[in-house]
Amino acid sequence: MFVTVVLVLTVLVVVLLRANTRPPAYPPGPFALPFVGNVMQILWQTPKVALTRYANTYGGVMSFRVFSQRSVLISDPDLMRTALADPAFSGRIDLILFRARDKIITGQDYDPLGILGTSGEAWKSQRRFTLRTLKDLGLGRQTLEPIMQSELEELIDYFRINEGRKTDIGLTFNRSIVNVIWAIVIGKRFSHSDTRLGQLVDKVNKMLQSFNPFHPALRFRWVKKFFPNLDIIVKTEGYMKEFLYFIEEEMAVHTKETGGGSDTGSYIGAYQQCMQEAATQGKDTPLTMSHLKANILELFLAGSETTSNTLLWGIYLLASNPDIQRKVQEELDQVVGREHTPTLQHIDSLPYTTATIYEVQRMADLIPFSVPHETTENATIGDYNIPKGTCVMFNLSHGLKGSKYWQDPKQFSPQHFLTDDGKVVKPDHFLPFGYGKRVCLGESMARLELFLFLTTLVHKFWWRLSDDDPVMWGKHVIFNRPPDYIVFPTCRRE
Ligand code: HEM
Repeated sequence: MFVTVVLVLTVLVVVLLRANTRPPAYPPGPFALPFVGNVMQILWQTPKVALTRYANTYGGVMSFRVFSQRSVLISDPDLMRTALADPAFSGRIDLILFRARDKIITGQDYDPLGILGTSGEAWKSQRRFTLRTLKDLGLGRQTLEPIMQSELEELIDYFRINEGRKTDIGLTFNRSIVNVIWAIVIGKRFSHSDTRLGQLVDKVNKMLQSFNPFHPALRFRWVKKFFPNLDIIVKTEGYMKEFLYFIEEEMAVHTKETGGGSDTGSYIGAYQQCMQEAATQGKDTPLTMSHLKANILELFLAGSETTSNTLLWGIYLLASNPDIQRKVQEELDQVVGREHTPTLQHIDSLPYTTATIYEVQRMADLIPFSVPHETTENATIGDYNIPKGTCVMFNLSHGLKGSKYWQDPKQFSPQHFLTDDGKVVKPDHFLPFGYGKRVCLGESMARLELFLFLTTLVHKFWWRLSDDDPVMWGKHVIFNRPPDYIVFPTCRRE
């Protein structure tokens, strides 16, 4: 009996020690359980709460485990910028959901597709092509502005019809933002009453709601092997399939409409043209139909909820802070004029409004820990060694909300981004789009969208929260969504 107890205790100690061994000069962190690591705590408290606690306890660079996977959280903004600019930190962890998507596209376990979930050469080539094409398509300003104006016309009509009525704007912005992406990807837009647009919004929304990178089923391949019928796997893969079929159907319509001829006015057209040119010249190209489908899906996933939710945050924060809303309107009236509509030309002449939009992004703190990276080789950060293959997370939230960096971090105050003489300042720790090698690919597009949508909506309407309907805060895994709320839009008379 005694021997058995000693044996069991010895095994237990060895297992616990093994779960907590660290490479030399590895960042500090909490005690990890065998097999699960720290994942129970993270899932139980929500990633946001657990990782914020870790950062407060262990400092600017700390480590934890998600099952057996070593993970590092960088919170110190200076170190964060250094790491994000270093190619050794530019890999992406294996995002299982995307691998399931790749299998749906190619029918086999193929090399990873797309931009968001790839590393190395595949990532570089798809990212480079997409960035260049979006720029060539004018995302810059000239092409994007009329697309956004068409969306705004429909939005304004919608809010005029609902003037003075209780309005739930939950998915209203998603329609406009998805439509802007659609216009760029395929060169046409849907009317807001078109059921295809409703279906597209619904598919993007469902996909993102079900995505939780801390869930073991969406993190490790073996889970699916042993439990292929797990609800979360079946659901997310189902949404992914539906979404891909939608894209394929619309691509087929596009090919029919363009008669297979060249169309350089859309992302799909430009991509296919480059593929054809390479084929004609007998050159190798990293551009393939499979990557194209994956890229399109990612532009929707990465570009729609992010921008729509920031707009929702904007209206919520302005409706909750009427003094600030009034000051933005005063600046718009003075610079744009009551009889005109804001355009992208006004972007550099509205310091208070610009500071307010930055402040909306700061308060929204939309993707608190960015999208997890992975080291592609042994690396160092500060005094620490980070081995190749470590998952690295970036605590963008710390730079946006930390009391060390802002006068009154819990308060919605555009003054955070203004000097005493009213000029706009953007501090180095303000990184809502990330930074460096993997900085958000749609940053400039999102900035223009946030500017034009928010200025137009606040110039045209006065926004008031309903007193009868309490705002409802939910628990969220990836995005910090604003609460559910009801507003009264009131037209501002010219
Ligand atoms: C307010 C809106 C947005 C915010 C706050 C935002 C934020 C971010 C963040 C934090 C990342 C992760 C960066 C990293 O891995 O280090 C990211 C990546 C990305 N974003 Fe955005 N984003 C926004 C809008 C958009 C839009 C409009 C698009 C395109 C239509 C877009 C496309 C992408 C893509 C493709 C990536 C992956 C880049 C890569 O892995 O190389 N995003 N975004």
